[in-house]
Amino acid sequence: MGRDDRSDRGDSRRGDPHITAATGARLRVDVRQPPGAPDLARDVVAGLGASPKSLPPKYLYDDRGSALFEAITRTAEYYPTRAEVALLESVAAEVADSTRAAELVELGSGSARKTRTLLDALGASRREVRYVPFDVSEGALRRSAEDLLRAYPLLRVHGVVGDFHRDLGAVPEGGRRLVAFLGSTMGNLSDDEALALLAQVRAVLGPGDHLLLGLDLVKDEGVLLAAYNDSEGITAAFNLNLLAVLNRGLDADFDPARFEHLAFWNPGAKRMEMHLRARLAHRVRFRALDLDVDFAEGETLHTEISRKYLPGEVRDLLQSADLRLVRWWAAPEPAFGLALATAAPAPP
Ligand code: SAH
Ligand code: TRP
Repeated sequence: MGRDDRSDRGDSRRGDPHITAATGARLRVDVRQPPGAPDLARDVVAGLGASPKSLPPKYLYDDRGSALFEAITRTAEYYPTRAEVALLESVAAEVADSTRAAELVELGSGSARKTRTLLDALGASRREVRYVPFDVSEGALRRSAEDLLRAYPLLRVHGVVGDFHRDLGAVPEGGRRLVAFLGSTMGNLSDDEALALLAQVRAVLGPGDHLLLGLDLVKDEGVLLAAYNDSEGITAAFNLNLLAVLNRGLDADFDPARFEHLAFWNPGAKRMEMHLRARLAHRVRFRALDLDVDFAEGETLHTEISRKYLPGEVRDLLQSADLRLVRWWAAPEPAFGLALATAAPAPP
């Protein structure tokens, strides 16, 4: 571990009132992402210096962003969470049967609301199972870990706070494992990034280990547009919260009122695109970088993509990362899929 890493055994060192002696002994959290801002500075210089402007989506998930994403999942229009939870509930027993995992690693675990379905199926209430949540959002990870430790007295949690593009090597050695990557979070990556991530996931899969991948599927454009433009404006608040992250992290002077949330379907790339669009021409100052960035009227800052998949492309996608699809479950309307894969070569 590098010098910037912090690791603790879940005592009250960090002053988290949720952490109690009863759960603390079963909790370990490694922090791979130094809390400083060098990544953010580099990404802003590169992303806002480019045309069109863009930023990596991980910055959307500070504490407020993580809470807003949770609120999105409860809006009437945002179908992916409900669709995936229902599918997961109907196949969890089969997943447990096929994998016989003793450890659940979850990438982009967030609030870990779907995790219980998998833990229950893996028998975590009657035997020792280890849960390894991996997320860039330390607050969300610690809160969800505490909740799970209270609900499962035999559970042990070894969380990793980090960037899954960079820090997957920090996933601890473990037993027979199931790596879950749910919420179609993979769809938030570019195709190249997704492939690179799958290859890294493959590297942490031993013989008998599995990957469970949740993927949102191509569907009616109206359903997609509604899901990313909810009528309560929560997705807009989530998107605009990025500006607060930049203001705080780099002492910038974004005025959120000068931007509007924009989400549309890009049929060529089969993805939803989220942007922040400048309502008027103006200049933004990043005091921490001694940098000025100009926005033209109508210019957009690309904040997130959400790729939608065709069931027929999943096998090849996994195959490109040398992973083998062993099961595919898909729910119709709103279509959502779960893929179970292994690193094992196909049987002869
Ligand atoms: N798995 C949950 C949350 C999905 S939201 C669900 O299915 O509902 C995406 C999650 O990925 C967030 O918790 C966010 O903090 C995390 N995340 C986004 N980019 C990340 C990155 N680069 N590294 C690690 N976690 C990331
Ligand atoms: N993983 C989520 C998705 O692709 C992320 C998300 C939902 C999102 N709503 C958003 C990202 C709005 C940016 C803006 O559905």
